[in-house]
Amino acid sequence: MPVHILDHPLAAHIITHLRDQTTKPATFRTLAYQISLLLAIESTSEIETEPKVIETPLERMTSRVLKHQPLVVVPILRAGLGMVQPFTDLFPDVSVGYVGLERDHATAKARSYYCKLPPLAGRHVFVVDPMLATGGSAVSALDVIKAQGAVNPTLVSIVAAPEGVAEVEKHHPGTVIHIATLDRELNEKKYILPGLGDFGDRLYGT
Ligand code: PRP
Ligand code: URA
Repeated sequence: MPVHILDHPLAAHIITHLRDQTTKPATFRTLAYQISLLLAIESTSEIETEPKVIETPLERMTSRVLKHQPLVVVPILRAGLGMVQPFTDLFPDVSVGYVGLERDHATAKARSYYCKLPPLAGRHVFVVDPMLATGGSAVSALDVIKAQGAVNPTLVSIVAAPEGVAEVEKHHPGTVIHIATLDRELNEKKYILPGLGDFGDRLYGT
């Protein structure tokens, strides 16, 4: 399965501070932006470019620009919202869709509570959710967006557990996944170890 893990000293540095339980929400939000920016760059590394003739101050040359291709980013609410801004900063024409899913604290099963999506057919869709734990939320989101016309969507997460990666592969084989770190395992409450705790709570101070 195509799982891409960020390999950059800055990514390791940011992840360390995200994991640190003494990191406060304001700093956590900045770090979430920074790691998501690295992931946004990495996960879009294969989008197409086309030639463009320009004049530098010295001579004419044929260079390259991004080919017009409508991208869509779909955060899984609510923690996924912390990963959207890098995509809108880098790709001002990106469309944003929303899938609201919340894990039940007792069963760790994801419950759907909201869905608002732009047209997805023919577009490159990036599903963003910082934590890939059991994989239940990601699988549900992929189910929903594929039912709405998305083809080969890319999943972008910050921290993944092997169990979550396997679950996505089981239900959506071949999905390209970009992550910042692959952690060890889930605990009995289905939290990622060593992980960073509840991403949404740490992002929003709840
Ligand atoms: C967290 C996280 C993922 C999900 C991952 O969301 O943001 O969406 O858990 O877990 P899973 O892989 O086992 O499904 P949560 O349900 O806590 O909601 P929140 O984003 O509103 O905090
Ligand atoms: N959701 C989180 O926010 N953290 C985990 O470790 C697992 C699911």
